[in-house]
Amino acid sequence: MELNDKVILITGASGGIGAATARQLAGKGMALALAGRDVGKLEMVADDCRKVGALAEAFPGEITEEAYTASLPDAVQTRFGALHALFNNAGVFETGSFETADMSRWDMALDVNFRSLLHLTKAAIPHLLEHPESAIINLSSIAGRMTFGGGGIYSATKHAVHAFSGCLFEDLRDKGLKVATIYPGFVDTGMTAGVQGERSHMIQPDDVARTVHFVLEFPANACPTEIVIRPQFPL
Ligand SMILES: NC(=O)c1ccc[n+]([C@@H]2O[C@H](COP(=O)([O-])OP(=O)(O)OC[C@H]3O[C@@H](n4cnc5c(N)ncnc54)[C@H](OP(=O)(O)O)[C@@H]3O)[C@@H](O)[C@H]2O)c1
Repeated sequence: MELNDKVILITGASGGIGAATARQLAGKGMALALAGRDVGKLEMVADDCRKVGALAEAFPGEITEEAYTASLPDAVQTRFGALHALFNNAGVFETGSFETADMSRWDMALDVNFRSLLHLTKAAIPHLLEHPESAIINLSSIAGRMTFGGGGIYSATKHAVHAFSGCLFEDLRDKGLKVATIYPGFVDTGMTAGVQGERSHMIQPDDVARTVHFVLEFPANACPTEIVIRPQFPL
C-alpha cells in the first residue's frame, strides 16, 4: 500500500508500541486515529504526529465497551473519510497461577486482549473492504506461540489472537485484505517495567513500529502473515 494520506486506526496508542507506531507512520504521511483510555497521553501523541505534518486525532474510550468498539470505525471514517488499516495493539499483561487467580482479572484480560479485538475488527471490516488494498495487523506475543508458568490467561489470549488472525486471513484474502500477526518477545515499554534484565537488550517499541510499516508497504500480491521478533541478545 502507498501510505501517503492513508488512514490507520491504532488501539493502545497512548504509550509503548502503539505510540511509537503512530509517530513512525506519521512520518510516512499516514493519518492517525489514536485509541486508548488516557486522553492526555493520546493528545500528546497526536501533537507529535501533527508536528511532522500528519493528520491525527484522539478517539478515547474503554475498549471493552461494545458501544465504543462498534462505533469507532464509523467515527474514524466520518473524521478522515476512509479507513485503510487497523492495528489491534491494545493489551494488558496479566499473569499469575491459575490456582490463586482472581477470575475477574482473567475476564478483564480476556476482554481487553481478545474479545474487544473481535468486536473492533468486525466493525472495521466493512470500511476496510471499501478499498482494493487494506490491512489488519494484530499484536500477539511470543507468548502466543508458547506457554509458560503463570502465563495462563495472557498466553491463552495471545494464542487466540494467533488462531483468529490465521483464519481471518483465509476468509478475506481474496478481497485484498492483508491480515498479519506480530509476535514480539520482551519489548521495552511500561508493560515490562517489572521484568528483570537488561532493558537495552529488549526489543524497542520502534522495532515493532518498523514491522507494522513493513507489513503495510508489502506488495499487494503477498502478505507476511506471521512475524516473530526476538531480542538479539539474551536479557
Ligand atoms: N511489552 C512487551 O514485552 C510485549 C511483548 C509482546 C506483545 N506485547 C503486546 O503489545 C501490545 C502493546 O503493549 P505495550 O508493550 O505497548 O504496553 P503498554 O505501554 O502498557 O500499552 C498498552 C496499551 O493498551 C491500552 N489499553 C490497555 N487496556 C485498555 C482498555 N481497557 N481500553 C483501552 N485501551 C487499553 C493502553 O491505553 P490506556 O492506558 O490509555 O488505556 C495502552 O496504550 C499489547 O497487546 C501487548 O500484549 C507487548
